[in-house]
Amino acid sequence: MKQPVRIAVTGAAGNISYSLLFKIAAGEMLGTDQPVILQLVEIPQAMDKLRGVAMELEDCSFPLVHGITLHDNPFDGFKGIHYAMLVGARPRSKGMERADLLEANAAIFSEQGKALNDVANRDVKALVIGNPANTNCLILSRNAPDLDPSQFCAMTRLDHNRSLGILGNKLGVNPSDIDGVTVWGNHSPTMYPDLHNATALGESVIDQIDESWYKTEFTPRIQKRGAEIIEWRGLSSAASAAQAGLDHMRDWALGSEGKIVSMGIISDGSYGVAKGIYYSFPCICEFGSYQIVKDLEVNEYGQSMMKKTEQELLEEKAAVDHLLPADTAESRENLRTSTDGQTQFDNGVDAASAYYKADRIC
Ligand code: NAD
Ligand code: LMR
Repeated sequence: MKQPVRIAVTGAAGNISYSLLFKIAAGEMLGTDQPVILQLVEIPQAMDKLRGVAMELEDCSFPLVHGITLHDNPFDGFKGIHYAMLVGARPRSKGMERADLLEANAAIFSEQGKALNDVANRDVKALVIGNPANTNCLILSRNAPDLDPSQFCAMTRLDHNRSLGILGNKLGVNPSDIDGVTVWGNHSPTMYPDLHNATALGESVIDQIDESWYKTEFTPRIQKRGAEIIEWRGLSSAASAAQAGLDHMRDWALGSEGKIVSMGIISDGSYGVAKGIYYSFPCICEFGSYQIVKDLEVNEYGQSMMKKTEQELLEEKAAVDHLLPADTAESRENLRTSTDGQTQFDNGVDAASAYYKADRIC
């Protein structure tokens, strides 16, 4: 039996988590042989609701769940964690401008960055799902000076999965028969879903679709799919976002089996993208780390689309620049090699006393 790994989930009483937590607990993220300890983090006002969710988790009797702990702050909740699923974020309220949203979230993610830096396991992998995900991820990473910037990701996997699903329907193939799709840039309406290097059952996709369908129907649909879901469902996407978070973390930890996946990662300057921002690139994951696929052809149209979304991320960065610690600017541009995929267990947490209570909810 493997040792349990610790997984923190923030926003654990919210909509996405109501789907995500049960999938993690069932072993869909890290495998059905990997026990987990769930460290659930919420704001103080949501702790009662969180207790209810934890009770439901307990009632499922998942054999892999070796502990559930509830926390109203990240410095407790992130102790010794190997994985962080950062779902909780401040939603946009009426009259709030994007800059206000960025600033409100900056406070949350700078605190969480400090907490990861201080108390998480040294090989922690953190995925930011809460919006605006890419810039929240930048703030998180910049506030964790002792961790490598490649230990943080922003989620663009939902956009990637949406592209596979909608393209699969168009071509009449299973989404798993498609490879080489990349979503570049920001998780926002400027993202660029690139099909130029995609294949379906080994055949070029771009040769099988109409250019005007690609540019005027498919692309805006992917870019605005979140809004389309909200319009029909009355709520933002939750189950599909949970599935995407799970897919991202599973591939990052266990490998993408040679397939290209889109991940919002620290830019190392590849494809001419400005260094130091979290930008979605085509990646292949292996041995617990990711590598950017470097040799894809990008045509003139693609380059202009990539610039536009890069520009937006640079503007978002400028809007929060006064909140970013100056001393982590340089290290985010000079990357070390990523972690080696070996999960370390020397995390200093007194597991026996803190996490193995009889009722498994503490
Ligand atoms: P929700 O409002 O149902 O739940 C969010 C939860 O986060 C709430 O329970 C809230 O109390 C909690 N929270 C807020 N601030 C927190 C903090 N500082 N620490 C811990 N918890 C905190 O929202 P949801 O539908 O679950 O969506 C969550 C986030 O995910 C939103 O920002 C949404 O826009 C984003 N999202 C991202 C993607 C993506 O592809 N990246 C897709 C869908 C949704
Ligand atoms: C999505 O892509 O579904 C979400 O980011 C939408 C949102 O605004 O929450």
